[in-house]
Amino acid sequence: MTNAPPITRLADITAYAEAVQLAVDSSAAYYADGTSTLDDDAYDRLVRGIQAYEEAHPEQVLPSSPTGKVAGGAVVGDVPHTIAMLSLDNVFGPEQLADWAASLERRLGRPVTAWSVEPKLDGLAISARYRGGRLAQLVTRGDGTAGEDVSHAIGTIVGLPARLAEPVTVEVRGEVMMTTSQFEEACAKRTAHDGTTFANPRSAAAGTLRAQDRPYVCELTFFGYGALPAPEDDSEPAVSLRELPHSQIMEWAARQGVQTTAATPVAGIVTDTLERVQERVGEIAAARATLPFGIDGIVIKCDLAADQARAGFSSRAPRWAVAFKLPPVEKVTRLLAVEWNTGRTGVIAPRAVLEPVELDGSIVTYATLHNVADITRRGLMLGDSVVVYKAGDVIPRVESPVVHLRTGEEQPIAIPQVCPSCGDAIDTSQERWRCVRGRQCRAIASIVYAVGRDQLDIEGLAENRIKQLLDAGLIADFADLFFLTREQLLGLERMGETSTDNLLAAIERARTRPLSRVFAALGVRGTGRSMSRRIARHFATMEAIRAADAEAIQQVEGIGPEKAPVVVSELIEIGPLIDKLVKAGVNMTEPGATGPTATTAEPSSELPLAGMSVVVTGAMTGPLEPLSRNEMNELVERAGGKSSSSVSARTSLLVAGEKAGSKRAKAESLGVRIVTPEEFAELVAALL
Ligand code: IVH
Repeated sequence: MTNAPPITRLADITAYAEAVQLAVDSSAAYYADGTSTLDDDAYDRLVRGIQAYEEAHPEQVLPSSPTGKVAGGAVVGDVPHTIAMLSLDNVFGPEQLADWAASLERRLGRPVTAWSVEPKLDGLAISARYRGGRLAQLVTRGDGTAGEDVSHAIGTIVGLPARLAEPVTVEVRGEVMMTTSQFEEACAKRTAHDGTTFANPRSAAAGTLRAQDRPYVCELTFFGYGALPAPEDDSEPAVSLRELPHSQIMEWAARQGVQTTAATPVAGIVTDTLERVQERVGEIAAARATLPFGIDGIVIKCDLAADQARAGFSSRAPRWAVAFKLPPVEKVTRLLAVEWNTGRTGVIAPRAVLEPVELDGSIVTYATLHNVADITRRGLMLGDSVVVYKAGDVIPRVESPVVHLRTGEEQPIAIPQVCPSCGDAIDTSQERWRCVRGRQCRAIASIVYAVGRDQLDIEGLAENRIKQLLDAGLIADFADLFFLTREQLLGLERMGETSTDNLLAAIERARTRPLSRVFAALGVRGTGRSMSRRIARHFATMEAIRAADAEAIQQVEGIGPEKAPVVVSELIEIGPLIDKLVKAGVNMTEPGATGPTATTAEPSSELPLAGMSVVVTGAMTGPLEPLSRNEMNELVERAGGKSSSSVSARTSLLVAGEKAGSKRAKAESLGVRIVTPEEFAELVAALL
């Protein structure tokens, strides 16, 4: 658990005035577009310093001071809120939480009847106004009394339905954010568009929510944390929520179709003991790093309306709730060096070497820097203090330099003039720089990938053997493997008869792999294993894939207008490699697939999993034990189902092996059917 961050000590009125200015600027930037030069920790420290100074010098308090103001005084938007959207007071550890609870109970003059404990979602507060069950308006928090109308985002936010189950007039409040996968998707879209990326999921969500004229659309996620009945003067039928406990309001909202955190591993709980509150705080904190969305604390609320009414509000926050803050996932550290690596497809990617810093439970030493344009745009220099972000399963990222911490000693970042791997020239015509030799540059890496278990699965072909074959000039790419002769292999050092025959047999087996595997082996940028399966099933033959233009490629689920042209140009680039594979007699068709024009493109309803969305989790046992996760997904798809990696209300079946964790819990809470690997094996027995 954390302790309160030390405060910034302000020596005199000049330091105080500067601190106020810095806090106001930082807060304005944070509320405008989610960017801020200060991490949460530094901001809290600063505001506490300002507070301490004001307590000692009440006569010097500046009107612009952020203390006691919602959103640090940042003013955004002109749609008045029906009821102010308040902030929350913070505590930084179990003792402070206990102190806060004790003082609340003193104020109430009796113990709190029931506590509600839930995650503090790290996104942007939004008010969703429903009239007669229809989503009519979306308003940001702004300064708490008025916000900005962002109704244009209606329809792009998962979890915020356009219609509720009942025709009620109600205001749902909650947090808009991006899940890890939405964030990655959004970054990919933006990179394809202008070569830049979003700094972190929070600022990506902030920018996306306000964006109106972007040529690409990014999906957002909403989690509700409150609902208010419509104002009494409203003519529409209102719902009576006024007397309900908070937990029941949230259950009601979920029944209306609004997403709440109830279906996540950090679902809210209600308890009447502070011990259980503290315990749940620990559980939520422990689950944080595994969540597919960001949380920055835990919110503890009085559950009952009566307790809330009695506790009341301060000017800034309710007295019946508090935020238990978790350590920041964003910190300032130093950029020590930039390393340049050429990847499997020839793309040259910079990587930041950092002064090690603890973030979200792990020590971060390296972080991604995306590309040269990104470095230039951010104006990064070696020795800079930089904001680094890491949360949950998001890869650590360098956001921006903290310019006011520069010492003058910073050095420009050397941009490579030649490929760091082979020394050949760099193709800089695209935002993502590439070695002019493309895939040839890192032939070893691309062959290792192609023969891997989830691609061609050529057993016994380890990296050192591939290197030996390359050095001997026997292969230049993985298609050449199919032309190797027994004599050539026997001529190699450390290659006996048995290993030669085993390798030749393994290569022979690889010749008959389904198209999805062959396509995956090509390592087309922007397509992984599951995308390769979708492409193969959609087109059925390599010929059809190669004949497809960007528009046709876009018919494949998950390929948008940004990715489609990349796939098309990649296929042209690797054309000679594909020709060689065809010549080698490698299978180029997908068993069971019929192609886009066939009328039977829909999965046959005779297949055991037809029309079902299936998630596999935990370790497989019984007949399925030897299957990798990729092979399980292939099996699901062969059986007519759709494989997915996350459980949602749309999931039809969860195959839960040993040590199944949060996905099982989520499936249980959503009432999704759960089967053991053995039961699943029986279900698909005909295909095993
Ligand atoms: S209750 C009047 N519950 O945190 C009570 N807020 O720092 C206000 N937040 O503005 C909100 N998760 O944007 C509440 N489970 C949760 C929350 C939550 C995130 C945000 C919200 C609020 C901010 C205050």
